[in-house]
Amino acid sequence: MTKILARVTVSVPASTSNLGPGFDCLGLALDLRNELTLELVEGSGSALIEVAGEGAATLPRGESNRIVQAARLILPKRLPGRLLFKAVNRIPLARGLGSSAAAAIAGLWAGAHLFGTLRCSEDELESLAVKLEGHPDNVAPCVHGGLTASLVENGRFSAQRLNIHPSFSAVVGVPEFELATKRARAALPKTVPLNDAVFNVSRAILLVRALETGRTRGLNGLMADRLHQPYRARLVPGLANALAAAVEAGAAGAALSGSGPSVLALVAGGSGRRVGEALRRAFAAQRVKSRSLELSVDHQGVRVERSS
Ligand code: HSE
Repeated sequence: MTKILARVTVSVPASTSNLGPGFDCLGLALDLRNELTLELVEGSGSALIEVAGEGAATLPRGESNRIVQAARLILPKRLPGRLLFKAVNRIPLARGLGSSAAAAIAGLWAGAHLFGTLRCSEDELESLAVKLEGHPDNVAPCVHGGLTASLVENGRFSAQRLNIHPSFSAVVGVPEFELATKRARAALPKTVPLNDAVFNVSRAILLVRALETGRTRGLNGLMADRLHQPYRARLVPGLANALAAAVEAGAAGAALSGSGPSVLALVAGGSGRRVGEALRRAFAAQRVKSRSLELSVDHQGVRVERSS
């Protein structure tokens, strides 16, 4: 049997970003977790990776895997053994649920905690995750949990946790097809009209307040967006119908989840199942297969589960 020299297990939540008007700055962690166990085993050679669940058939094995690359950034160059990564993925890939931020954060935190003592501060790890991933609005909720606002200025990253009322939970309609963030960003214009910027800024501020207080009246209007959703709609067949159907079925508000193609509906109360069904039907009407996930808000962010 191969001897295990060191081991750590971390788990990371899914995240939804933008929430409509908070393009590239608001994020929310969702209780759907990927787990990663990293072992240093006797032997030598390049890293080995086992993947179960989402992406098991497609994710690269070995050094080119994002988790491995992230861990390598933080681990000592010379190791007295071979790295074995065991990933259990529950976050669907390329669906606007922060799977790539989760992979980067899992790799960084596992690498930093493999030998028990942290190799650098959590702030440094978070900045590295933003550099690797490029999307602070997914990194911040994945690291801290809950609702977050973030910004990057001159390469420096800062994030703040915001309060979200306990009555809110999420229903996410996840289409079967994938949409790469790169493609969804290529659909955006380089500049936007001033009116549209004002439209978003005013809603983003009021949305944060409504999420804090639990006020659902008018919430869907506050989740409206003019900076990205209208440009991305042609990449997500059924988007407009799905947003409307979710609200009709009882959601307090709905928006494209991150860069899509998933749809995030926020619910307060017991309408989750109905909203999930409505989302599935709306996508199906456009011949898009989808599944619905009822998820509570994650308040923990990245977790180191065990280390030995
Ligand atoms: N805010 C980013 C976008 C999230 O909408 O493109 C990407 O995960």
